[in-house]
Amino acid sequence: MQSEISPRDVCPHSAGRVQRFTAPQLPPALSTEVTDLESEAVEFLSRHHAENPGLSPALPDRVAAVRAEIAATGTYTQTFEELRFGARVAWRNASRCIGRLYWNNLQVRDLRQVRSAEEIHQELCEHLRLATNGGRIRPMISIFAPDTPGSPGPRVWNDQLVRYAGHRSPDGAVIGDPAHLDFTDMVRAMGWQPSGGPYDLLPLVIQASGRRPEFFEVPRDVVLEVPLTHPEYQWFADLGLRWYAVPAIANMRLRIGGLDYPLAPFNGWYMGTEIGARNLVDVDRYNLLPDVAQQLGLDTGSESTLWRDRALVEINIAVLHSFQSAGVKISDHHTESRQFLMHVAKEESRGRIVPADWSWIVPPISGGITPVFHRYYDEAELSPGFHPGEQVSRQGHGQCPVSPGRPAAD
Ligand code: ARG
Repeated sequence: MQSEISPRDVCPHSAGRVQRFTAPQLPPALSTEVTDLESEAVEFLSRHHAENPGLSPALPDRVAAVRAEIAATGTYTQTFEELRFGARVAWRNASRCIGRLYWNNLQVRDLRQVRSAEEIHQELCEHLRLATNGGRIRPMISIFAPDTPGSPGPRVWNDQLVRYAGHRSPDGAVIGDPAHLDFTDMVRAMGWQPSGGPYDLLPLVIQASGRRPEFFEVPRDVVLEVPLTHPEYQWFADLGLRWYAVPAIANMRLRIGGLDYPLAPFNGWYMGTEIGARNLVDVDRYNLLPDVAQQLGLDTGSESTLWRDRALVEINIAVLHSFQSAGVKISDHHTESRQFLMHVAKEESRGRIVPADWSWIVPPISGGITPVFHRYYDEAELSPGFHPGEQVSRQGHGQCPVSPGRPAAD
């Protein structure tokens, strides 16, 4: 039901028209890019000033300076204020995210000067430490260097900073997270040696500007994990399930005012259903419904006993209960749905639309008993925004080693 982003039908060519005279002798690609960059920059700066009256320098001065910088260098440097505002608005515009009420509290780390893979690794670990904050999770983004003419920014090939490996055993069964089988194979080919368990932390594959990718372990002490228990069923703990505290998307490109930041990992906190109704439950993930149903003694012989639904609810109860008992911030889908509609009302009262994708906003369980189900949303794509990162390949650049599926932010 949740759809992939479809490639847009963009055709810049006016089909079949005969040219009468030659256009001015500017390299066409360059001139279009500069114009796009300039117009996106101006649009962004105007929004920044419109939403934050009294900024200095005044808009016309800032626009003139940015135009001059683009003319001289083909790019421009955003101020920290611009970067922070841009990242926050990118979150505000994220049409698949139900948790946008706190968009203006996003903590923004400016890491545009950090270059080497080693330093990038340090900063990614620091992001996890700061964002985890002992369980009182802080929504946070770390922004590394943008792509500039002749110099790509750094990249991370992982879809999140924390992920569990997937291992194929000889009998065809999978140990760990099947979503990361291919990624795991790729890092093994790079020399990584996992222990082969169900919750091995994948290393980070970091590609500094113009360099080959290298892998780095994520130290266990920067990854807070929660063992899953159930408030009523003692046996639940014996399943040995766990999940990590901080969902930090690492492979989306942040676009602000015409600039692309290919490495800008960001996190919020989990909504329970992401873990309890998808990661642990999808048949191509940990696929736990049959085991849990069996433990519950449910009749799995017929769909109409709704054994799947009953097991599903118990897993979700366990997820929320475990995170809360461990003092790790998490929210439930009822609360999160109500807050999202508060966000929509608040934004509309400020004259802004809230782009939203119904199929991502409606929770994967109990949709119809959450208020977000019973209405439609604006579908605009606004800028600044987060976009699927480009896919990178085993062969080198350009093709994704990770199973394609949906972009990461589900
Ligand atoms: N759904 C993804 C996961 O289960 C995380 C996406 C971002 N979620 C969030 N609450 N910020 O890992």
